[in-house]
Amino acid sequence: MEDIASLRKSYEKAELDETASAADPLHQFQLWFEQALQSQLPEPNAMTLATVGDDGRPSTRVVLIKGVDARGIVWYTNYGSRKGRELAQRPFAALQFHWVELERVVRIEGRVEKTSEEESDAYFHSRPLDSRLGAWASPQSQVISSRAVLVKAAAEAAVRHALNPPRPPHWGGYRLVPDAWEFWQGRKSRLHDRLRYRQVGGAWVRERLAP
Ligand SMILES: Cc1cc2nc3c(=O)[nH]c(=O)nc-3n(C[C@H](O)[C@H](O)[C@H](O)COP(=O)(O)O)c2cc1C
Repeated sequence: MEDIASLRKSYEKAELDETASAADPLHQFQLWFEQALQSQLPEPNAMTLATVGDDGRPSTRVVLIKGVDARGIVWYTNYGSRKGRELAQRPFAALQFHWVELERVVRIEGRVEKTSEEESDAYFHSRPLDSRLGAWASPQSQVISSRAVLVKAAAEAAVRHALNPPRPPHWGGYRLVPDAWEFWQGRKSRLHDRLRYRQVGGAWVRERLAP
């Protein structure tokens, strides 16, 4: 195997400074996300979601962003999954995008709430049929005895719900309402740019962090 300790890369693609960044972190995120989409990256909409259990242990997984606006950042999942159980106990989370090819990271933290029933319904019904049936078939994050159990549950869901499965009560959206954002742009010689935005009295304070 290659000597992993010797793997390193110089980041030289772009810069991020106080004068060129948006005053509102949502606008900065929308700009970078648009650039990630335009750059044809593989899965620019994939983000790491970190939650914490009531034992204080953090856990992470990848989910897909499905909406972003002034209210926050939305994703969809099974409310009974590990992340769902952890968010029910501790409704705070952190999100991270790593757009490798752009040498950029965005970190977002805040309180998490469920999306409304109407919002979850609207998104659920926009999904392909097999995904909608899958939401019924998979008791996400539970131990199952074999793959066959899953395939059987999917077939049963297809028989029961045919072409029009309703949204399962255990499935829906979450919205993280940001109170802190960080935009990281890799720079030469490890002198990276980091701009953090944090909310103070309803306004955003922008600060540079040492790399
Ligand atoms: C690119 C990618 C996108 C994913 N998107 C979602 C998603 O939007 N919602 C979801 O529940 N799981 C998604 N998953 C699966 C999760 O990473 C994870 O396996 C699952 O949600 C169970 O996590 P948990 O046991 O921590 O709750 C995705 C996985 C990958 C690799």
